[in-house]
Amino acid sequence: MADAKSNSIEVNEAQIAAHWKEEEYYYPTAKFISQANLVDTEVMKRFGLDNFPECFKEYGDLLDWYKYWHTTLDTSNPPFWKWYAGGLLNVSYNCVDRHLSNKKGKAALIFVPELEDEQHIVITYQELFVRVNETAAMLRDFGGLKKGDRVTIHMPMVPDLPVTMLACARLGVIHSVVFGGFSGAACGDRIADSGSRVLITSDGYFRNGKIQNHKEKADVAVARAKELGAQVDKVLVWRRYPGKYISETPMVKGRDFFVDDVMKDFNGKRVEPVPMLSEDPLFLMYTSGTTGKPKGIQHSSGGYLAYAAGTARNILDIHPDDVYWCMADIGWITGHSYIVYGPLALGTTSVMYEGVPTYPDAGRPWRIAERLDVNIFHTAPTSIRQLRKVGPDLPKKYNFHFKLMVTVGEPIEPDVWRWYYDEVGKREASIVDTWWQTETGGFLCSTKPALDPMKPGSAGPGVPGIHPVIYDEDAKELPPGSNKAGNICIRNPWPGIMQTIWGDPDRFVKTYYSKYCRNPKSKDWRDWPYFAGDGALFAADGYIRILGRVDDVINVAGHRLGTKELESACLTIPEVAEAAVVPVVDPVKGRVPEVYIALKPGVSADHGEVQRKVVNAIENMIGKIARPSHVWVADDMPKTRSGKIMRRVLAAVSNNMPVGDVTTLANPDIVESIKVMVQSQTKRAEVTDAPDDIKHFGKVE
Ligand code: WTA
Repeated sequence: MADAKSNSIEVNEAQIAAHWKEEEYYYPTAKFISQANLVDTEVMKRFGLDNFPECFKEYGDLLDWYKYWHTTLDTSNPPFWKWYAGGLLNVSYNCVDRHLSNKKGKAALIFVPELEDEQHIVITYQELFVRVNETAAMLRDFGGLKKGDRVTIHMPMVPDLPVTMLACARLGVIHSVVFGGFSGAACGDRIADSGSRVLITSDGYFRNGKIQNHKEKADVAVARAKELGAQVDKVLVWRRYPGKYISETPMVKGRDFFVDDVMKDFNGKRVEPVPMLSEDPLFLMYTSGTTGKPKGIQHSSGGYLAYAAGTARNILDIHPDDVYWCMADIGWITGHSYIVYGPLALGTTSVMYEGVPTYPDAGRPWRIAERLDVNIFHTAPTSIRQLRKVGPDLPKKYNFHFKLMVTVGEPIEPDVWRWYYDEVGKREASIVDTWWQTETGGFLCSTKPALDPMKPGSAGPGVPGIHPVIYDEDAKELPPGSNKAGNICIRNPWPGIMQTIWGDPDRFVKTYYSKYCRNPKSKDWRDWPYFAGDGALFAADGYIRILGRVDDVINVAGHRLGTKELESACLTIPEVAEAAVVPVVDPVKGRVPEVYIALKPGVSADHGEVQRKVVNAIENMIGKIARPSHVWVADDMPKTRSGKIMRRVLAAVSNNMPVGDVTTLANPDIVESIKVMVQSQTKRAEVTDAPDDIKHFGKVE
């Protein structure tokens, strides 16, 4: 029923028994252990709560500071924590300049174009230094940007993207990178919310061998921002091939500029890094939540970078001489923390790949790994499932060897984990299943790769300094071994935690802290556990298994989509009266959205036409990643007597699982007719054993 008082996940013991099969342990090899960064068996003691917050001095000390901090953690205004308070540093200096003394000729970034016959581009630390300086000079003197300004960056996976981010960091300009696959309108919403007056974009890029016209999205973005009252003065366009424009969309005179043209005036320019307070914001990253409006997650300079670097060192086992490849997109938090900031702060070589993993075939990632001799590989379950589906035997055909592999973003099924371990890792590599979020800056739960055994399907314990706890609805702790699912929270703050939601501190406090705060007046961090919004189980061995979101967020191929955002897009179609979006299990992407709409009375529109309009609206307002698998036109939506749409019932129908008791609905008959419609067209097999996020979807109405 729609009476859950708050975000809840209710799982009884019988249901758990069906889902909680203990998997066997796997152990790291002696070879891995012998070279690992984190081999100190006392590390958990050192990072214990008795030693909190001073334990995080160790992470702060990985960075170079202009002025050392005076207070490791300032808790005077909970939950607005300040890490390394009083410290001054510059993030770009830490990721670039400080490596010049001993690594200037070493590759910082290796860019692999999607077209296989195009050459890799190797950018050494010296070259990165030059490019970041020139770009910073251009942004400052031509773009008119200064410390504290926001700038929206809507770019694909090209090396100019990290260069632009680091140039912003050099100036203290707050960047807001919008994933390149998002639509122009979605970018425009984020421009307006952040108050950016400059948009940095690209002309195009390759995807599945075809040029994507990216510049056209900039025009839509600027128009959308204007509708929302935000003026964009300049659009800076990086060209995929300097001097050659690959987009068909005209440049707007006086507003749009090619970066490579403008940059000619800044050849050889140097810009002193601007010393920033540890708590000055470094960037915003928009993510989806329960309401239709994306949240601008604000991250700090000092705490964020220290945490990204510390976890990259301890959990990813990054050494300066590794070749590390994370296949994520820099437009998501994984790319920020673990393609750009963490790896570069440690002075390693970070590989970035432009395109899709299966282009031109599913052997591509393994050819890249072989050629560059990548030894750390980082990706998401969606890609692993896809690569297994199309090329299960391909990894063994290539001569590459990973010491460590990462999975992130979604729960990984144990059998997918085993394929990753056996075939991709060749039974040599340690795997870390890292659970975390845009909001958390870096990893929260994972095994320590040289110290803990791995367990397929489980993220593992909290990483050093992170103390997870699982609460039930009444804030009672569900300890390890209790075999009950609950809401996972973190007891303590940590340096990578978000600072606030841009422009909406009340929403920040409400979303992440109000549910389990013990006393809103308290200045003691112990009273402010962080509420992550995921359901989880704590096994007796202290390993955590993440079950999925407890809010109205669908995780599609590791990308967070808010169901309310999709529903708002549907409601822009004049014929649509009501819309509901539910997740459907997909063997590759994890989940995909499915849409139900009811038409306005008297509308006799052609259903096919309305369905097409709905799909277009979603693609235009959000992006192709949100494309629904089906749009169902229903005569009415199943509703409670108070008129609320029962999304839970629709999710059950879409996944062909039992709908439960619907007799108390205002219109129980509609359920049967929707079921018949969906079943007759999809013929999905009946599911009795649905994943927990599906089973509990829409319990919060
Ligand atoms: C999910 C991505 C299971 C989770 C870094 C979380 C995971 C959301 C895992 C955050 C994992 C992330 N196992 N689920 N290892 N990692 N998730 O903000 O539901 O894009 O809340 O950050 O992804 O997604 P976000």
